[in-house]
Amino acid sequence: MNGQGDEHFIPVARLGELDERGRAVVRVGEEEVALVRVDGRLHAVQQACPHRGGPLSEGDQDGCLLYCPLHAWAFDVRTGASPTNPGARVRIYAVRVIGDEIQVAASSRLRAP
Ligand code: FES
Repeated sequence: MNGQGDEHFIPVARLGELDERGRAVVRVGEEEVALVRVDGRLHAVQQACPHRGGPLSEGDQDGCLLYCPLHAWAFDVRTGASPTNPGARVRIYAVRVIGDEIQVAASSRLRAP
């Protein structure tokens, strides 16, 4: 049992709304969330960088690492952890795709490093 079945997923976008890099910015409750595609799989992380609020959806990507466009802190979209700045992390959300509808868990989670 992985606990995913207990999460409440809400629709946030359609696959066709992703940009050419497989990204979109959506709203989950009060928070902006960046959808980021890596190797065909979607991940969801908080949009605002925890350093000074840089828009993570606009950053460069190297595999699962997303680099903030302002000062290049990196975050692993799978875990939210930052390999360049230990101690910094972003909230991550579970994502699922039903048909062409992208759904994100209504509550974020932080994983242990
Ligand atoms: S605002 Fe993201 S690294 Fe500074």
